[in-house]
Amino acid sequence: MSQAIEDFFAALWVDYVAIAPSAGTIHQMFRDRGERVLNDHVAFRTFSGPQVGIEALEPHLLKLGYSRHEPYRFEAKRLDAWSYLPPDPKYPRVFLSELKRDEFSGPARDIIDRLADSISEDAAGSSAVFHAGRLWPAVTLAEYETLAAESEYAAWLASLGMHANHFTISVNELQDTPTIESALNLVESSGHPISDAGGRVKGSAEVLLAQGSTRADRMTVEFADGSLEVPTCYTEFALRFSDGAGHLYQGFVPASADHIFESTKR
Ligand code: NI
Repeated sequence: MSQAIEDFFAALWVDYVAIAPSAGTIHQMFRDRGERVLNDHVAFRTFSGPQVGIEALEPHLLKLGYSRHEPYRFEAKRLDAWSYLPPDPKYPRVFLSELKRDEFSGPARDIIDRLADSISEDAAGSSAVFHAGRLWPAVTLAEYETLAAESEYAAWLASLGMHANHFTISVNELQDTPTIESALNLVESSGHPISDAGGRVKGSAEVLLAQGSTRADRMTVEFADGSLEVPTCYTEFALRFSDGAGHLYQGFVPASADHIFESTKR
């Protein structure tokens, strides 16, 4: 069991730092300062539907020993999500969101349906699907713009495909920078811009979870009719608080996550 989880996250990490090299630099910087770098959660994006929707991906998490925690809904972004708890706290929680295809209409809907319908039926046959990249043909630059105008999430997913969208450093484990603001300041001073969508720090002790993130790295991607630099992935920071009964909060705060999604804004 634990070897399977180790292998899963090792493969995910290799794929993630290939498109978001700053994440590797940031993790190394904290380790060089003598910190223990533990991931609070890893988040994924996908299209709803039978091929790679949450229902198709979830069995792989359950097989690794994860358990379902809570569902979330992001109305304005047309997303559903589930969180999953690890079999051992040394492994990250998983946050799985999916774009609700049937809530789109017009040209964006046509593009999204075409991509999703082109995914092979056995795409989710192994856990490698979580870092399989694009499982559909490249869209054109104009189609990318059409998607981006409706949903940054859709444009991100269409252009890059299946990857970890972000790994999240647990600030609870950090000794020298025990607050989100201090961790973000350190990261910023080492040359990594911070996302300020919804303020630098999202959430607080009051909602039992505070978060912040870098702005996504950028990478040139080949489209059907040319290339374009697009936002890829970012590094998030999370600090969890205990509730009145002394239990460390395990969930996610939708209002904060809503802003965190915007770390890949163009
Ligand atoms: Ni997150």
